[in-house]
Amino acid sequence: MKTKDVARCLVLAYPAQGHINPMIQFSKRLAHKGINITLVTALSFWNQTKTNNNNNDNNFLFSPNIHSESISDGYDDGGHLAASSIEIYKDTFWKVGRKTLSDLIRKLMVGNYNNNPVDCVIYDSFMPWALDVAKEFGILGAVFCTQPCAVNNIYFHVHKNLIELPLSESEYSLPGMVKLLAHELPSFLYEYGSYPGYFDIVTGQFSNVHKADWVLANTFYELEQEVIEWLSKIWPLNTIGPCIPSMYLDERLQEDKDYGISIHNQNIDACIKWLNDKPKSSVIYVSFGSMAGPTEKQTEELAYALKISNHYFMWVVRASEQNKLPKGTFMEDSALLEKGLIVTWCPQLQVLTHDAVGCFISHCGWNSTLEALCLGVPMIAMPVWSDQITNAKYVKDVWNMGLKVVVDEVEGVAKRETILDCIKEMMESEKGNEIRENAMKWKNLAKDSVDEGGSSDKNIEEFVSKLAQYAA
Ligand code: UDX
Repeated sequence: MKTKDVARCLVLAYPAQGHINPMIQFSKRLAHKGINITLVTALSFWNQTKTNNNNNDNNFLFSPNIHSESISDGYDDGGHLAASSIEIYKDTFWKVGRKTLSDLIRKLMVGNYNNNPVDCVIYDSFMPWALDVAKEFGILGAVFCTQPCAVNNIYFHVHKNLIELPLSESEYSLPGMVKLLAHELPSFLYEYGSYPGYFDIVTGQFSNVHKADWVLANTFYELEQEVIEWLSKIWPLNTIGPCIPSMYLDERLQEDKDYGISIHNQNIDACIKWLNDKPKSSVIYVSFGSMAGPTEKQTEELAYALKISNHYFMWVVRASEQNKLPKGTFMEDSALLEKGLIVTWCPQLQVLTHDAVGCFISHCGWNSTLEALCLGVPMIAMPVWSDQITNAKYVKDVWNMGLKVVVDEVEGVAKRETILDCIKEMMESEKGNEIRENAMKWKNLAKDSVDEGGSSDKNIEEFVSKLAQYAA
């Protein structure tokens, strides 16, 4: 018989920057509403984060209601980079993760937790086995989707064999979605066989979704209305996004300093100082997120497009990608040095929120897309792989908050002239202004959804009150 009145959730994040970021923000929202949170990811990720940020404790979670724990992915020293392939990493992680998650829940159930054991496991949809573990312990399970509902819907259709692979149609019509050409589907389908490990992960996400008590999606109703309505007929779906730090959504919360955590070193001051003396909306911010990167040839085309554009630019080229930058004297060119800043990582939200930033050349990872949308920054989409391909389609054609560079079919890259045309259109034309205004519309809708009484806020309230009832 339970006697407690505070619910505890174990939040299990997949060990990747683009997955842990939204789950930390969601954890913070729950903690703010009185839920106790145990935030868990693979030890390999915590280790890397602490080493790269010279941080030896877990204070980076910024909330007394949140504490962190870890499970093992089988590669405590190095994570997926230490495995010989993603397939092997996945197989090991699924086995070791399952066991170490069970051990952890057992420890939390009997341990010294002020009579406050775990009531619900909120887990990243990439790890459906976490739901089986939760059910073995007889506790609630909520799947957390880090990607948009449109993409979840596509993967669910593949799982149900409703999309035949390899793709044979030129166009696909899925319920609640705009028609997509084959090459607008996520790369793991369009380039079937390219990454079998990731293919298995993304298409296996919803294999046991019928057992979940909630499906929590990092999106908001107004953004994906039709596909959300469709999925709500078959899943216990609740939209709870956008999961970005509340200080960026609500001016009254500016004091709630939260720069998130990162596995990369970042020099916050240098980036912001560089932006500070640039004119309003004059800088192109360029980033391809934490995992993928353009090819060497594509990097070169982009580098020249930025240089020829003569606009200011801040370009994140991760340490592991720097060898793709043009060789020779390009990097020493004084015109380039005067106009551009190339960094290995930056405080992206602070950069996007800075007045000097005029547009965002982005790979369209879901977090970057939501962040740009919430901060009203128009995008130039240069997707690389995965869900980014579909996200880019929505950015340009559905939400009208960006342009998209076209890839030259013969050369397999977007040529510098094409990128340059997009930059000019966005930074110098009336069409760019229209897109910018539309981005501001999305910014307001995003903010409304998480404000008191907004669509996502209501769903979070409902989730919290059901948890509290269960825990009582
Ligand atoms: C991955 C997938 O690639 C993406 O498609 C999926 O939707 C989520 O998982 P990632 O490629 O890292 O994510 O991109 P994204 O989703 O945009 O997440 C990157 C995060 O890192 C963002 O929150 C962004 O703000 C942050 N970031 C990125 C920084 O803080 N600084 C940087 O310099 C670059």
